[in-house]
Amino acid sequence: MRFDTPATTNPIDQGKVIGKPIARIDGPLKTTGKAIYAYEWHDPNTRYAYGYIVGSAIAKGRIRSMDVAAARNAPGVIAVVTSDGVGELKKGKYNTAKLFGGTEIQHYHQAVAVVVAETFEEARAAAALVKVDYAEERGAFDLAAAKDSAVKPEGGGDSGAGDFDAAFEAAPVKLDQVYTTPDQSHAMMEPHASIAAWNGDDLTVWTSSQMIDWWRTDLATTLGIDKDKVHLMSPFIGGGFGVKLFLRADAVLAALAAREAKRPVKVALPRPFLMNNTTHRPATIQRIRIGAGRDGKITAIAHESWSGDLPGGGPEVAVQQTRLLYAGENRMTAMRLATLDLPEGNAMRAPGEAPGMMALEIAIDEMAERLALDPVEFRIINDTQVDPENPERPFSHRNLVGCLRTGAERFGWRERSKQPGARREGNWLIGMGVAAAFRNNLVLNSGARVRLDREGIVTVETDMTDIGTGSYTIIAQTAAEMLGVPIEKVAVSLGDSRFPVSSGSGGQFGGNCSTAGVYAACAKLREAVAQKLGFNSADDPIFAEGEVRSGDRRMPLAQAAGDEGLVAEDQIEFGDLTKTHQQSTFGAHFVEVAVDVATGETRIRRMLAVCAAGRILNPITARSQVIGAMTMGVGGALSEELVVDKERGFFVNHDLAAYEVPVHADIPHQEVVFLDETDPMSSPIKAKGIAELGICGVAAAVANAIYNATAIRVREYPITLDKLI
Ligand code: MOS
Repeated sequence: MRFDTPATTNPIDQGKVIGKPIARIDGPLKTTGKAIYAYEWHDPNTRYAYGYIVGSAIAKGRIRSMDVAAARNAPGVIAVVTSDGVGELKKGKYNTAKLFGGTEIQHYHQAVAVVVAETFEEARAAAALVKVDYAEERGAFDLAAAKDSAVKPEGGGDSGAGDFDAAFEAAPVKLDQVYTTPDQSHAMMEPHASIAAWNGDDLTVWTSSQMIDWWRTDLATTLGIDKDKVHLMSPFIGGGFGVKLFLRADAVLAALAAREAKRPVKVALPRPFLMNNTTHRPATIQRIRIGAGRDGKITAIAHESWSGDLPGGGPEVAVQQTRLLYAGENRMTAMRLATLDLPEGNAMRAPGEAPGMMALEIAIDEMAERLALDPVEFRIINDTQVDPENPERPFSHRNLVGCLRTGAERFGWRERSKQPGARREGNWLIGMGVAAAFRNNLVLNSGARVRLDREGIVTVETDMTDIGTGSYTIIAQTAAEMLGVPIEKVAVSLGDSRFPVSSGSGGQFGGNCSTAGVYAACAKLREAVAQKLGFNSADDPIFAEGEVRSGDRRMPLAQAAGDEGLVAEDQIEFGDLTKTHQQSTFGAHFVEVAVDVATGETRIRRMLAVCAAGRILNPITARSQVIGAMTMGVGGALSEELVVDKERGFFVNHDLAAYEVPVHADIPHQEVVFLDETDPMSSPIKAKGIAELGICGVAAAVANAIYNATAIRVREYPITLDKLI
């Protein structure tokens, strides 16, 4: 089904199942421990072997030689597969860094060997005996030091309209500030893990992947085998946040190890490997300049961002939202990319906007203060309904103003002290902050297969993943709505490369796109049912209460399916609506903090997010995404930072003891409000992304609240207590 004209009324609009607060259908499996995650997959008739990864001890250079004799002779060892031993492997399409093979070292903890043994403990013990002789080279590890060598990335990165320099020069009120965001780690619950089993030339891999087809393609390329020979399964995933978008070393090592050991092999990346072996959100340095008239209208806005990556990598797109969020005739954005020899920088929840909004939304707060305007009002004054760089291009649907107004009302914004540092309760300075939320809405084609059996059970199959987001549930809701059956009659199978290729999970596109794919397949199944019963399109059959009817004619779906059952497969293919209309999601974050006057410790007191993101398919799972994102935003504001060893080139704090994410006690009260809307440009489902919108702006709202509490403006994240005393 091609989607290139705005959606009209369709069965989803009935809202009998879609939009209802239905608890996760996979919840009981998870809470009873019956959901099988990658590493747990276990066939009692199989003797699994265990692989343990050896990571490079240098950040840049070459392997001169490897001595694995001691490891090979250690108890229980079955095989040792080394990087120089396997030689150069072809790199897949999606990663920047190579995952394994050859002698070149591109970053610290790059996989150099996998040791396979009868038990995990034996593999780990033997891995410690692998000796590697490296030829080490000097690398560049410090973004600030490399900033001046940064270049315009391939594919551009600059944009603009009007004459920024002249307008900024002439502006009566202006701001010119620099903000920094650190390297961050995804820090999801479940580390990467794979089990690989060969049957002749056929490879089966149980893994933890957000994007089944991307992994399958890249794994086949890396191993030099046909994609058809690779079967990938990832039915349950304990979080990803972007670090499981692209094939990772665990899958490659498990496949090579299993081939060598001639047995199925399990490989997990131990927690300390996540930070340096995989990817991270790159640090940024961002300069923002804003000029405005005394009426509060922005006349000039510029956002420049510097970030670094390995050769061949890309920039953190931190200026993305500044092209679209506020009006202003004269504007420019630019990105510069430095070569750094740190581990690969890549997508982490809301890549681009998350760190970009951390800077922009402080700058907006600072500008409002200079203009003596309320920061909510300043944002409203500068709202735009068109893409400010291309004013002939409207937003598909945009209600930022509604989010700000609703949020201000619900949060009690009028209680905020206009004077920073003026509200005190005992030892606590109290402040409130606001930020806009903005994240683009991406669309990817997505396929699904739907079966109807003679019991009237509907089964949906798609390689879509559920990374903890609720995909199982919203997909079941979609099929139930489309076919007029209760949700209990729908079974959903996900995360298997034998199923039709879906959008996968990433970039907050999975919810809208995968359900749109299921919509397309269900529409086809409805046609098949109608045709079987001899209805034509003029009959306009209705699917409800488990039957199909038109006029006086009616038949239960179970009967329509017959003994053979019916099956339909289709995919949603997105046309040009994202080009003709800017598709984005909007929100507003409000935060109240207390800062200890003596220690500088910040406590979050309460948070509110108001979101305008198209149809909300399930308010429970959507809320869960937003409160998780708000929590991650608090981490970004107050504690999360990968600390770079600038001499040796690695992230020092590579575990959850030292990479500090918020815990429950850090987050006392969160509220989420969804504005009631649909976006007919986004898909037939009329939904948009929500999971990444929830993080965008949060850290700045915290920073602005801290400023309101203390009168101290911190522009370097994270806002640790040393910066407040
Ligand atoms: Mo997201 S960073 O695309 O999983």
